[in-house]
Amino acid sequence: MNTVWSSYIQSTGELYESRALRFDDSSKGLWLGALGARPGERLLEVGCGSGIFCHRVKSYLPDVSVTGIDLDDSHIAFAREKSDRLGLDCRFVVGDATALPFGDASFDLCFSHTVAEHIPHDAFFGEQRRVLRPGGRIVVFSVRTRLNIRSDDAMGDEEAALLEKAWKRASETSDLDDSFVGAYELSEHDYPRELEKYGFEDVSVRVFTVMDYAPDSSDVPREKALRQINCRRLGVLSSLEKALNICPDALSQAESGRLRELINARFDERIAKYERGEKLWDFSTSTVLAVSGVR
Ligand SMILES: C[S@@+](CC[C@H](N)C(=O)[O-])C[C@H]1O[C@@H](n2cnc3c(N)ncnc32)[C@H](O)[C@@H]1O
Repeated sequence: MNTVWSSYIQSTGELYESRALRFDDSSKGLWLGALGARPGERLLEVGCGSGIFCHRVKSYLPDVSVTGIDLDDSHIAFAREKSDRLGLDCRFVVGDATALPFGDASFDLCFSHTVAEHIPHDAFFGEQRRVLRPGGRIVVFSVRTRLNIRSDDAMGDEEAALLEKAWKRASETSDLDDSFVGAYELSEHDYPRELEKYGFEDVSVRVFTVMDYAPDSSDVPREKALRQINCRRLGVLSSLEKALNICPDALSQAESGRLRELINARFDERIAKYERGEKLWDFSTSTVLAVSGVR
């Protein structure tokens, strides 16, 4: 049972909710345009996490077949359960991107979102090339963190100090090797060359920006604005839980209770301001690089 990613790096719930907002219907055209799936094709998402991208693609394009693979058991269990609840016919597999459990030439399109950054490229691209049929396509979505915008979170001093203490203790005591996270990230200039290096042709790039968070923006309806604020809350609460997963006594019970209270109070206040019509105009964007190539 592998739950390294969901326990220590990004929890399943946090991943699902942040992506549900990123792959929101309002940006459907951008994602589908960059994916370029055609009717009847067999699609594989590599490193599918909690499965939301697969779910979205299958609901928009019912006649493609969609398989998602991820190393993390908890992400895949969630993705399967959600598929069943949504009545979507997606297949989810626990497995390693560096040794895909699929035959040669068994897919028409392989895609991944924020995964190439964490996996050695010879195996990552080599395996996708192997499972793609000749003429099949790869699409690599990478969020260029350097190009993102994120308004400050305005965390209070006590909250910041407790969170810092938790992470300081967690990193001092941890024997978790998370050096692979982000270890293979490339610049926007290098991704296209990397695809060519691993044997893909007709490489092309699309760049677009998605608005992950903008609750005060006039085009964001109330329900979505509240989800965005609560997603940020979940991100901070998950950060604490991850530190405690790594080092259970990083904080005393009283301290971790107090920290949860402070986090919740801050986001409750953010929602109260929203409801009162008090605008903060905070927002965050993600700049997405979609690099595609043909096998
Ligand atoms: C940043 S997350 C992205 C997840 C998903 N694509 C999304 O955007 O929501 C990276 C994912 O890669 C998965 N992963 C990391 N190494 C992997 C490997 N060798 N094989 C398969 N999945 C892997 C992690 O479990 C995690 O779900």
